[in-house]
Amino acid sequence: MVKIFETHAHYDDDAFDGDRETLIDSFKGNGIYAVTNIGADLKSSQNTLELIKKYDFFYGAVGVHPSDVDCLEEIGDDEKAIKLLLDMAESSERVVAIGEIGLDYHYEDTDKPLQEKWFRKQLGLARRLKLPVVIHSRDAAADTIDIMKDEKAGEIGGVIHCYSYSVESAKIFLNMGFYIGVGGVVTFKNGRKLVETVEYTPLDRIVLETDSPYLAPQDYRGKRNSSLYIPYVAEKIAEIKGISVDEVYETTWNNAVKMYNINSRNA
Ligand code: NI
Repeated sequence: MVKIFETHAHYDDDAFDGDRETLIDSFKGNGIYAVTNIGADLKSSQNTLELIKKYDFFYGAVGVHPSDVDCLEEIGDDEKAIKLLLDMAESSERVVAIGEIGLDYHYEDTDKPLQEKWFRKQLGLARRLKLPVVIHSRDAAADTIDIMKDEKAGEIGGVIHCYSYSVESAKIFLNMGFYIGVGGVVTFKNGRKLVETVEYTPLDRIVLETDSPYLAPQDYRGKRNSSLYIPYVAEKIAEIKGISVDEVYETTWNNAVKMYNINSRNA
């Protein structure tokens, strides 16, 4: 039986307000047996806790996205801000990661020092809680690698979600013990760079993700994404690697279980 582990989605997003329950109720019938809902700011981290309370096959990550770190800064007390995340992370055994955290230099008005500060602080939080991290990094490969090395992120572990860099960078992340998150972009007509990374990366270091509601696969590009489209990603990985799609599902399931440290405590 096919069992799919969706390692990165945002089902608290407004895009799902109209049909959230119906959609999630359809998951197991479509092979989606585990979902990690990812926080991006304080509110969505809180909403993630509500979702994992409601659905026993949902796991959660709490954390603040580099483009949303103002919500931490506004608290005006760094320790208090981190304590809010810590309390959320400790509130359930099914919070399995800190994320998404990282650097995003895509927009011109980016406050790089502020992003770095909260990236480092949230890496520290993950270390303290012994949780892996879900890293969001866009247009910021060199600084991400520098900070991760400096913070000894290899001891923390986790995933480079929605991987968008070169094979050369992937080697560095893989050497640090990180997994590579692969989603709809691998099916894009201009997804050649990610295809090369998938070619290079051993299957036992890849996890499946969607980043729903964003980044729907080529056939649905621009439309709302959901975990139901993971087969497009898995089939593309199977094609690249010349293996069966079942092998992709089985191996990536085991990878996700290992990466998020899912066991009798929180299964
Ligand atoms: Ni995301």
